[in-house]
Amino acid sequence: MPACLNPRHRLLTPLALLLPALAFSAPADEIARGGYLVRAMGCADCHTPMTMGPQGPAPDFARGLSGHPQGMALPPAPAAQGPWGWGGALSKTAFWGPWGTSYASNLTPDATGLGTWTEAQFIGSMRSGKHRGSGRPVAPPMPWPAFSQLNDADLKAMFAYLMAQPAVRNEVPAYQPPAK
Ligand code: HEC
Repeated sequence: MPACLNPRHRLLTPLALLLPALAFSAPADEIARGGYLVRAMGCADCHTPMTMGPQGPAPDFARGLSGHPQGMALPPAPAAQGPWGWGGALSKTAFWGPWGTSYASNLTPDATGLGTWTEAQFIGSMRSGKHRGSGRPVAPPMPWPAFSQLNDADLKAMFAYLMAQPAVRNEVPAYQPPAK
């Protein structure tokens, strides 16, 4: 193949090859710290579905952090009774209470998860408790008031870790406000 003589192309080709890698790459030690924080704060407790394994219920790591399974349709939530006012599904990814019904989101880098989020939207959501930092209120039991205490460096590391995980395609059902 004859070498391309257009000097712009010669400059652009190596740049174009480099850019996708730069867009999502974070230093390995930042990703490792993010993983430490995500594990210690129990994000998987609600964002990784449980399945029944040979030893009883266990987290389904093949769908790690991908939120409430899209194929798992649930009947309407039970009615609250006396002091029993909220609860959850056995998958540990769906919850009902006075706020309505909430489904743990997909935190993997797929387009159905955080794939289209910016780091600023992630930090904004964790700080303000608003969807993507500016939308509807994020429903319980997502413990964002606790996570809002984290500093920028920690939240950035957590986002970097989440973006470095395998992308799992899973369209989580939409939040449902309480029945009137
Ligand atoms: C006790 C359960 C629980 C834990 C623990 C939890 N989450 Fe959530 N999370 C939820 C639920 C439920 C939702 C969906 C809320 C909604 O739809 O309003 C959610 C939503 C989110 C969202 C989407 C917010 C938005 O702006 O729409 C992000 C991002 C998130 N969680 C990240 C995390 C991270 C990171 C951790 C760990 C540091 C974590 N969650 C721990 C239950 C939890």
